[in-house]
Amino acid sequence: MGTSKKGQFCAAVSANRQIGRRCYRLSLAFEGTGAKAFGELLPGQFAEVDLSEVALPVMEKIPQDLRDASKREIILRRPFSFCDVTVQRNKTIAEILYCVVGPASLRMTTLSAGDSVSVIGPLGNGFSMPKGKKTALLLAGGMGAPPLLHLAKVIRRDYPKIECVAFAGAKTKEELPFKLRLDKASIKSGLVLDEFAKYKIKSFVSTDDGSAGYTGFVTDCLVQWLDECGLKEKDLIIYGCGPEAMLARAAEIADERKIDCQVSMEQMMACGIGLCQSCAVECKTDGSGETIYKMCCKDGPVFDSRELVFKK
Ligand SMILES: Cc1cc2nc3c(=O)[nH]c(=O)nc-3n(C[C@H](O)[C@H](O)[C@H](O)COP(=O)(O)OP(=O)(O)OC[C@H]3O[C@@H](n4cnc5c(N)ncnc54)[C@H](O)[C@@H]3O)c2cc1C
Ligand code: FES
Repeated sequence: MGTSKKGQFCAAVSANRQIGRRCYRLSLAFEGTGAKAFGELLPGQFAEVDLSEVALPVMEKIPQDLRDASKREIILRRPFSFCDVTVQRNKTIAEILYCVVGPASLRMTTLSAGDSVSVIGPLGNGFSMPKGKKTALLLAGGMGAPPLLHLAKVIRRDYPKIECVAFAGAKTKEELPFKLRLDKASIKSGLVLDEFAKYKIKSFVSTDDGSAGYTGFVTDCLVQWLDECGLKEKDLIIYGCGPEAMLARAAEIADERKIDCQVSMEQMMACGIGLCQSCAVECKTDGSGETIYKMCCKDGPVFDSRELVFKK
């Protein structure tokens, strides 16, 4: 569970860098009570960002397929998790890795150093730490990578004896929100994804079209690794974030092999604090076979995979 006290804070933009075709990294600086709250943010927790007053890019810079959608008014805040949090002397820098998919994320691209945005957070729970485990497997699908990067950093810092291995999948190489190291030495040492390599974490890449790494789903890549690793299932834990179909398959793999597994669910969200019921997730109850609905924003977004009923 999250320990920090949530609130509405004004964050100063300190950088907003383009790192891929439609992928950016936004650095937000918090001071005062915001610095304390976001300094204690757990990997997997998120924030609701107000982008309603932020300008759209000029029309020529808006991708053709988003030109109609870009005109939509932004009424609701948008949820984003964090890929890194750094506590400095009197401020906290929290970083969002985001992908441009619609009107709000398009507006986010025009933020620049000196701007400020209103942020409500930290919200939801976070991933539980892998106490008692020997290896943590970080499974990222598409834009599911950000909270797993933050988790990788925290595990490395607080549990240095626990090994981490990252698996990142996307439809194509261009859709992976990472810089790839595809030289022979990096491939041989397994340090393919820069963002994980900086924590000395081995990584595997998969693409549906075979444009980089393993050809196929990232969950198939995980199965291959599990078959070959020779490790005991009880020593492993899977952390997943990405599309629901990928998380459902990860839950199945974990169930078949009796591996603990936590997944971060991405639901459409409105209020972000458990009031509007727009982010309901179906969950099993103990024993009886009946199900109940939990709120992804408040009870999640991280759930034990055994608890969830995934959509077919
Ligand atoms: C807890 C949580 C953490 C998130 N963290 C990140 C992050 O770190 N980086 C990042 O790029 N995005 C993240 N997202 C997704 C992000 O909230 C959406 O991309 C954003 O709201 C899109 O707003 P928009 O106006 O640009 O596009 P919209 O027009 O609102 O959406 C564009 C398309 O994306 C789909 N979509 C939007 N939000 C979601 C969602 N929550 N789940 C499934 N599909 C969705 C819509 O159905 C639509 O097809 C997160 C979402 C949640 C719930
Ligand atoms: S977003 Fe309103 S209840 Fe979850």
